[in-house]
Amino acid sequence: MDEQDILNELREYRNQDLKYEEGYILGSMCTKPHPMARKISEMFFETNLGDPGLFKGTSKLEKEVVSMIGGILHNKNAFGYLISGGTEANLTAMRAFKNISKSKGKPQNIIIPETAHFSFDKAKDMMDLNVVRPPLTKYFTMDVKFIKDYIEDSKNEVSGIVGIAGCTELGSIDNICELSKIAVENDILLHVDAAFGGFVIPFLDDKYKLDGYNYDFDFSLNGVSSITIDPHKMGLAPISAGGILFRDNMFKKYLDVDAPYLTEKQQATIIGTRSGVGVASTWGIMKLLGIDGYETLVNESMEKTMYLVKKAREYGFETAIDPVMNIVALNDENKHDTCMKLRDENWYVSVCRCVDALRIVVMPHLEIEHIDGFLESLSNTKKY
Ligand SMILES: Cc1ncc(COP(=O)(O)O)c(C=O)c1O
Repeated sequence: MDEQDILNELREYRNQDLKYEEGYILGSMCTKPHPMARKISEMFFETNLGDPGLFKGTSKLEKEVVSMIGGILHNKNAFGYLISGGTEANLTAMRAFKNISKSKGKPQNIIIPETAHFSFDKAKDMMDLNVVRPPLTKYFTMDVKFIKDYIEDSKNEVSGIVGIAGCTELGSIDNICELSKIAVENDILLHVDAAFGGFVIPFLDDKYKLDGYNYDFDFSLNGVSSITIDPHKMGLAPISAGGILFRDNMFKKYLDVDAPYLTEKQQATIIGTRSGVGVASTWGIMKLLGIDGYETLVNESMEKTMYLVKKAREYGFETAIDPVMNIVALNDENKHDTCMKLRDENWYVSVCRCVDALRIVVMPHLEIEHIDGFLESLSNTKKY
């Protein structure tokens, strides 16, 4: 085919996609990447971090960006990688858990909340983990007392805990502070999935913080061994840019496999060949926005979240919980039906699994007029 014809045909396919700026994407944790990422993507287009000795500059950038993200998480010496996304990050953490507990002769018993992302179901399936699901509190956080009792009763049979800082459906934050104490007391691992919350919580204005949650979630808590934190969510980086950070590089040996034909003889990531675009874009966007830029981004999204909640209440809708971050769950007993009706009008919300509610993620691409238009359509779906 002629190059121009190929590009024209590709454009036709691309035109069928929704665009963030149109405001119809209301249920995604991704958003329009920062415009500077276009130039960066072009510059790093052919890089491959799967063979870091060939791409020494990009590899240095990855170490720097891990340290920069570590800085947000109070540990500039963290060890880790920028990988394909939160799923791979959680799989990597579970792989480390599995290999560490195996080396101690412990079984693969791991405590994971009901609110956890389904990537942990993939981990369970791939690694034959035995998963314990504690009951939830009214704040949709794990019951800490249950965990303490369970670990005591199971006599050293639990090898790790997963806590969530910003759960996918509701944004709730487990009590990582208490989980950290339990991890230290029992010498077990604690992974925190802050895939979404990692680029939200550190920048959240105090006025949005709610009673019932402890917002501490990072390496400043001694028991936290690893954290998932995704630049391609609220970090404004283009897909694919997920992050997995471990407390220190002691964890590397539990992930490494021999890679004899590469420039580095060991490889720790699950994916082999991987682009440096995510690394370079995240590095650039973090340098450009700085702490102030992320604070503005997060708190503007929170303002719009509060606007959505206020307006929704005026229409007679109620939320399942007060928003902990820029995620809103609107009660709806017919959530699947409503979701499909809204889709007929091009509004793409998602549904919660743990409550009967529609789920709206107020990402930076959403403007007030989109929220107004959506709520009007939502209220029309309820009229007969
Ligand atoms: C808390 C949490 N963890 C992990 C993931 C998986 O991330 P990804 O889709 O980038 O693999 C998500 C995605 O929404 C998430 O919300």
